[in-house]
Amino acid sequence: MSIDPFFTQEERDAVYKVIQARRDIRHFIPNRTIEPKTLAHILRAAHQAPSVGLMQPWRLIHIHDPELRRQLQAEAERERLATADVLNTRRDAFLKLKVEGIGECAELLIMVMAPDDGTVLGRRTLPREMAISSCACAIQNLWLAARAENLGLGWVSFFDPHVVSKLLKCPNTAEPLAILCLGPVVEFPPAPLMTIEGWREGKLLDAILYHDHYGKEPVPPEGC
Ligand SMILES: Cc1cc2nc3c(=O)[nH]c(=O)nc-3n(C[C@H](O)[C@H](O)[C@H](O)COP(=O)(O)O)c2cc1C
Repeated sequence: MSIDPFFTQEERDAVYKVIQARRDIRHFIPNRTIEPKTLAHILRAAHQAPSVGLMQPWRLIHIHDPELRRQLQAEAERERLATADVLNTRRDAFLKLKVEGIGECAELLIMVMAPDDGTVLGRRTLPREMAISSCACAIQNLWLAARAENLGLGWVSFFDPHVVSKLLKCPNTAEPLAILCLGPVVEFPPAPLMTIEGWREGKLLDAILYHDHYGKEPVPPEGC
């Protein structure tokens, strides 16, 4: 498909609007489906992401088996409780947060980083980090494409990669990076849920933008 290389103001506005309106979603409307054509658009957007040396290290596993979904949800719950145990004073506050919508979302996708294919270009000094970053670019494309389709996406990182790898029969050196919940949502919150629920405030752009040298480190919140 050829596209006009220059965007109109209206198109630019739409891109910024999607970026601003994107949210991490944990509350999905249960028992819903996504039109196959819409899902295909979103998946194509993920696969159009940039990657180091055009490595494309992302692999997406679409979960269809309800039993597998249940096992993945059980693993996320186990890790949620393990996380609560190390949060000390904020344990109870943490347990009130919803951190995944695996049971309710319309579609479940797992992002797995493929076994290293030996790509050197751009990866001589930070090989693993550059492959992970490339996978994250694909997830961000998924996130934005989903939002543009008025669907929500939730990134779940509460799991032991070895457990998920075994469940999904991944090759030994592949690494599951994210459980991705996708589907119609109850609502798109106006701000990060972590902030709305009083867990943590985001940083201002001014606090993280430095000039010439690394600047003053923002004060880290306690027990996050
Ligand atoms: C690498 C990564 C892992 C994340 N893991 C989780 C998770 O396991 N559970 C969860 O509720 N949110 C998770 N999130 C979502 C963040 O909590 C969320 O992006 C952040 O609070 C900002 O909110 P927003 O995405 O709505 O702007 C994750 C986000 C990223 C980028």
